[in-house]
Parts: sequence; C-alpha cells; structure tokens
Amino acid sequence: MDLTNDVTKTLGIRYPIIQAGMAGSTTPELVATVSNSGGLGTIGAGYFTTEKLDQEITLVEELTDLSFAVNLFVPSDKLYLPEKVEKMNAWLRPYRRALNLEEPTVNISEEAQFNAAIDLLIEKQIAIVSFTFGIPNYKAIDKLKANGVTLIGTATSVEEAIANEQAGMDLIIAQGSEAGGHRGSFTYVTGSQVPLVGTMSLVPQVVDAVDIPVIAAGGIMDARGLIASMVLGAKGAQLGTAFLTTEESGASKLYKSAIQDSKETDTVVTKVFSGKPARGIDNDFIHNMNRYDDDIPDYPIQNQLTNSIRKASAKNGDTKWTHLWSGQSPRLAQSISAATLMQQIINQTKALI
Ligand SMILES: Cc1cc2nc3c(=O)[nH]c(=O)nc-3n(C[C@H](O)[C@H](O)[C@H](O)COP(=O)(O)O)c2cc1C
Repeated sequence: MDLTNDVTKTLGIRYPIIQAGMAGSTTPELVATVSNSGGLGTIGAGYFTTEKLDQEITLVEELTDLSFAVNLFVPSDKLYLPEKVEKMNAWLRPYRRALNLEEPTVNISEEAQFNAAIDLLIEKQIAIVSFTFGIPNYKAIDKLKANGVTLIGTATSVEEAIANEQAGMDLIIAQGSEAGGHRGSFTYVTGSQVPLVGTMSLVPQVVDAVDIPVIAAGGIMDARGLIASMVLGAKGAQLGTAFLTTEESGASKLYKSAIQDSKETDTVVTKVFSGKPARGIDNDFIHNMNRYDDDIPDYPIQNQLTNSIRKASAKNGDTKWTHLWSGQSPRLAQSISAATLMQQIINQTKALI
C-alpha cells in the first residue's frame, strides 16, 4: 500500500489524511497544524460571512505555506413556510423562556453568501474547495475550474457520487453513516429519509462506480481506519471527530468532554437542531423535540430558530439543549494536539503496512 497516490498528488500533500472542515469548530491553528503535519487542513466556512472567511484565510496563511482547503455548504432550495416557523416558535418558547431569550428573526441569504464566498476564494487564490449538502450551481463550478481550483464533493450514496463526478468534481468524499455532524446527502431514499450507508459498505461501491479518487469518511479515527479505507479502494480518509477533541480545535471543553465520555451507542441522527439530519450525542433536546420530527422547518431555518438556545445552553455549561455532533467512534477520541494525532496516525500506518 502506497501513501503517495492520486489524492496526495492532486491535493499537494504528503499523507492522505484530511481534517474535515467542521463549520463552527475549526480554528486557523487546527487547519495549519494538520497541513504542516503533512495532511490537508480544511477551514469549515459553512456559517461564515465573507468578511469572516477573508480573515480566517489570512490567519491560516500566516501559519502555513502548505495546501489547505475551504469547505462550503451548497445552498438549499427549501421554502420558508411561515406556519411551520410559527408552530416551531411555539414549541421552542419554553426553552427561550428558561434561558431568557428573544424570538429570532429568520434570514435566508444562503445563495448570495455562497456566491460571494466563491468570488472571494478565487480572489484569494484558494487551491482546494470542498462542498457538502449538494452540488454547486454550474456557474460556480465553471468559475472555480477556470481558475484551476481543485473541487471535492461529498456523497452518501452511489447515486450522489455519480452526480458529483458528472458535475466535474475532481475528488469525492464517501461519507458513511457513522460520520459525525451533518449528512452531506442531497437525495432521499424514501420520503424525507436520507441515505444512511455505513462506511465499509459505501466506500467500495462508490469506488466501483466512479473514476475519480474516493476519500472515505465516517468513524475513522486512527491508522486502522485509514488503512481499512484504503483496502476498500479509497485513496485517503477524512476525519472529523478525531480532530474535534484535539487541543487546536474550536470545540469547547464541555463539548470535548461530552465526546470523550461517550460510547459507540450514544449518538443518533436527528434534524431537530438544524432541519437537516446530523449525527450527534443524544440529549434532552433531541428527546423532547423528536416528536415534532415531521413538522421541523427545513435547514437553514430550524438552524437559526434553535441557534440562541444551543449557544446559551452551552454557555451555561449545560449539554442538554445544545448540539454535540460526534461520529460513532467517540471511544477512540483523544485529548492530544493535532500534530501528535497526525504523527501517531502516520507512524502507526507505516508500521501496519
Ligand atoms: C463537529 C462536526 C462538524 C462538521 N461540519 C462539517 C462541515 O461543516 N462540512 C462538511 O463537509 N462536513 C462536516 N462534518 C462532517 C465531516 O466532514 C465528516 O463527514 C465526518 O466528521 C466524518 O465522520 P467522523 O466524525 O466519525 O470522523 C462535520 C463533522 C463534525 C463532527
């Protein structure tokens, strides 16, 4: 098994290890440390304004001269339905009252923000951009490609992988159902059910269906996971939860401890926090809100409606009403620096192969 392959060559990195762009939890230190250790650091820019994205890129560039990526959320085409929002606000009222919070105003400016981010990334000469939640519009793809940017798409099924390849993505992340955080899905199996296929099943089936290199994601925390992914035909692995508990991550102490105190059976996929299915540690908010599952406003509306509740709960040092995204391998999460984690994975991978 060779650690130098199409993924490392295309991305200009030494080892096929990618730190997931985790919106809300990456820091310039985390991104730069992973890149400086031979992997690919990724700025999780999904929630950033262009000003914040600009600042973050500058900070990363001060810390590394090596390749790094920026991850963006592809805008959704969901509708704002006032009756749904009104109902949800009524259900959320007890939480807001308990935390002394106002009802927020909802703002849907995803498309404009996304297009502005694309222009900024081109202006800043960012070499690698990854996407989740779908395939960007062809104008954005054409613009990025015309500027030589390498594009990475996310797929949670073979159908989504083929769609990504046909749209012109250079690489594809096959995100298994073990993965922490939001599902990158943009198709439905039935009704509102998104694909939930385990990494071990998804990766080889995607590898067989596309010609572009595949990167495995979901439950991978160490050299064993990286090697297993490569045996399945992936050319690299993207790790989220493993980097989330490192010293450089932006996750709070409370959040990191919640992951480290969890078991493999403690996470669930839920859309109660954001309107989009995401895997996180089960808690009181999920239990209480799950009964409204069919009436939850779509992302990004629900995300905005619950935002202040999640923030206030976490600020109070309380995990019961905040999202705690985590993959299914929390027992393997370590409280070490990202540089040490990278070194560990690299050394153990070399020893095992
Ligand atoms: C806290 C957290 C935030 C995440 N945010 C994003 C994101 O902004 N964009 C994205 O493409 N993936 C995001 N993901 C998913 C990762 O890209 C990846 O699929 C996942 O972390 C892999 O599973 P693992 O957590 O078991 O390693 C996030 C994951 C976590 C744990």
